[in-house]
Amino acid sequence: MTTTPASRPPVPPDLRHLFHPEHADHYVAAMRSGVHHLADALGRVSDPATGLSPEQAAEPVVDVDLDEPLGDPAQALAEMSRVWLDDTVWFHEPAYAAHLNCPVVIPALLAEVFVSGVNASLDTFDQSVGGTFVERHLVDWTAGRIGFGPGADGIFTSGGTQSNLQALLLARDHAVAGGTPVEQLRVVTSGDGHFSVQKAARLLGLGDDAVVTVPVDADRCLDLDALAATLQALPGYGLVPMAVVATAGTTDFGAIDPLGGIADLCERHGAWLHVDAAYGGGLLVSPTRRHRLAGIERADSVTVDFHKTWFQPVSSSALVVADGRTLRHATWHADYLNPKPADPAAAPNQVDKSLQTTRRFDALKLWLTLRIMGPDLVGSYVDRVVDLAAEVGSRVAEHPDLELAAPPQLSTIVFRFRPHDASPGDPACDDDALDALQARIRSDLYERGTGMVAATKVEGRAFLKLTLLNPMATPADLVRLLDAVVASGRTLTTGTGAVER
Ligand SMILES: Cc1ncc(COP(=O)(O)O)c(C=O)c1O
Repeated sequence: MTTTPASRPPVPPDLRHLFHPEHADHYVAAMRSGVHHLADALGRVSDPATGLSPEQAAEPVVDVDLDEPLGDPAQALAEMSRVWLDDTVWFHEPAYAAHLNCPVVIPALLAEVFVSGVNASLDTFDQSVGGTFVERHLVDWTAGRIGFGPGADGIFTSGGTQSNLQALLLARDHAVAGGTPVEQLRVVTSGDGHFSVQKAARLLGLGDDAVVTVPVDADRCLDLDALAATLQALPGYGLVPMAVVATAGTTDFGAIDPLGGIADLCERHGAWLHVDAAYGGGLLVSPTRRHRLAGIERADSVTVDFHKTWFQPVSSSALVVADGRTLRHATWHADYLNPKPADPAAAPNQVDKSLQTTRRFDALKLWLTLRIMGPDLVGSYVDRVVDLAAEVGSRVAEHPDLELAAPPQLSTIVFRFRPHDASPGDPACDDDALDALQARIRSDLYERGTGMVAATKVEGRAFLKLTLLNPMATPADLVRLLDAVVASGRTLTTGTGAVER
């Protein structure tokens, strides 16, 4: 397959590792062996984890002498399996139901080959050429799905945290450009908003007090009356609500804040509306549930994480803004990279809109996904996991030993084990003991490798959480996981129902 022009000198052996046409055979062989290695590993998996402790996971890794290369790819892959792959966590396994990790679609994995092989960088046109326009077309398409007008724009980012950071940077600079001193700026979000909002406020120099949280209502959605009262009250303290962050799919409960009502209040108080749809953004392509995001089109900016409910490999996220001109707050020109052009159309540099400089062509993954599968099919996967969560939620609600914290809204189920036969006064009814029990159940399932569930707190008490993002999981799979939770809870309690501490 490889042809070496007669006029060129032979390639020195130490350069054979470089991606180069003369190494095409080597490239194809290495990739083929890697893909087979992964497929073989996948074929052997039957549980989401093997349950290593941090000490056990660290031990084989730190023993590797990085100054002594193995040279041979087969040996290196075998070692990689030993130090990591054999004991990794598998998100395609139905009993994986912990965090917002999704199994990934094959079209996106196909794109990964090109993303890293070609290694285009999306900062400037002269490093990406058509890639710039692939990303722009996807941003425009996403903006269209949101319902933004023609002035919309955006940028791919590394994840929801970065998208939220950039949104708040734009909001801050928008407010400062309007004449408000930074120390007076406040960001309002619900108590169930994502912690990246607080982190962003700190990074943006707004201070830890800058985020004002308002309570959630009985459905775990931001309480509109409380928001109205807060927005009304802030000016009385000499403070300016620069932004409201509404969450479309809270991390724990999947709750979608009342976007239309929040947009009304933002309009009235001149606050930037950012919608963190990192989780719920998949509803943009749902054939049946798009209406649940009604009002999102009135936002100033929206975070969408393709690496959550769009089944894309990490990383893949976007910040989309209603008015593309606001992205100027992220613009900086450098003579060596993106000098200020006389004609911006002649220099379509995505770095002008991004917090990053060198940036992966993550957009290609979504591109091939849409071109191979189409949006309806991706959205139907979202619908499947939302349906599954509703079904599993009812099973939890019916179970005598499980307590459901709230009805599922997207694809999470927050619950705890509480033995029904523990009588009042029994230590197993004691809140502290129940808290300790949830943590032990979680560790027990992980250590035995039978299931992975997440932990959270509701009103200060420990709960377990299932996050369902696997469209291939069935109700029977999840009932088995619930049974494992109950069996573990029962085993960890004594015959009297008292919790062993
Ligand atoms: C609602 C919400 N926003 C933002 C994020 C942060 O996203 P990322 O982990 O991609 O930075 C998450 C992560 O789970 C989230 O649930």
